[in-house]
Amino acid sequence: MIRAFFEGTDPDDRCGKIRDSHHDFQDAVALRLTEADFAVPIGKVLLPGFRERHRLAIGADYTFCMIDQQEELMPSRTSILVAAARAFGSRDPDPGVRNPDVFADKLMGPEELELISGHPLSKGLEQDYAEASQNPAIVLFASLMILRTRFIDDAMKRAVESGASQIVILGAGFDSRAYRFRELFKNCRIIEVDAKNTQEYKRRRIESVAGQAPPNLSYVSVDFAADDLGDALLKAGFREGEKCFFIWEGVCMYIPEASVRQTLRTLRSLSASGSTLVLGLCEQPRHRVDKAEFARTLSV
Ligand SMILES: C[S@@+](CC[C@H](N)C(=O)[O-])C[C@H]1O[C@@H](n2cnc3c(N)ncnc32)[C@H](O)[C@@H]1O
Repeated sequence: MIRAFFEGTDPDDRCGKIRDSHHDFQDAVALRLTEADFAVPIGKVLLPGFRERHRLAIGADYTFCMIDQQEELMPSRTSILVAAARAFGSRDPDPGVRNPDVFADKLMGPEELELISGHPLSKGLEQDYAEASQNPAIVLFASLMILRTRFIDDAMKRAVESGASQIVILGAGFDSRAYRFRELFKNCRIIEVDAKNTQEYKRRRIESVAGQAPPNLSYVSVDFAADDLGDALLKAGFREGEKCFFIWEGVCMYIPEASVRQTLRTLRSLSASGSTLVLGLCEQPRHRVDKAEFARTLSV
């Protein structure tokens, strides 16, 4: 069984509400995953020092753009948006609730902010932190990202400590974990998978702000809707016999449901027992899923 974590949205709400812990657990039951299979639901991410405003973000309205166009030579806008939200969260004066992504702010230069100029975060990152925090669209988005980043970081640390020797980041965008966790990952293989343009842009950008990539990091460009992910992973050195921690953060809402299922089947077929998948699952009306079937897709 691959352990899975779902960050979902309300199926009847187009823009989505991040579910509270109660609903998350209900979903786990609907998915026929046992509590032991289910990584801690997001509403139960009891991070030390978390203040109420961060917990509130879980149940608050959270609107986001469901279009993730891959334009020629341009990175995905949504990958910049979520990195911008992490950048904002990394400025929180309270270290207990600060987003730990220390590279996100450095990655958000004028060019990136221009690419998301229609979003309040673009201006917010140029404003004083306290002033920008008055805008709920900014603070709720940043709070959601703090939960997501820390939830995944914590689950990933546990997985590596329990013997996962491979980290695969699917639809990596501006994910900086390969740099942030250099020490933890020193005996691991890390594979970042993303659409070509976004990956090339991110790679150039992160090398310019954080230096050369760690030697154990490989970049693989894959279109989930068109390419053979399994083949690409194996060519990049993925080992089927070794435990893996897969991250699929904020991606499957942008790709066709058939490609989500195909990707899950690929992960299932490649994964050694004890591997973990953390993903955000968004049930837009066009992506309505039969949860029991979804769980069957995952179970080995
Ligand atoms: C919202 S971003 C999330 C990025 C990163 N996981 C994070 O949370 O910061 C969505 C990511 O999915 C990738 N993506 C969207 N459609 C894709 C596709 N068909 N094939 C490969 N990657 C895709 C984009 O390039 C982008 O990096």
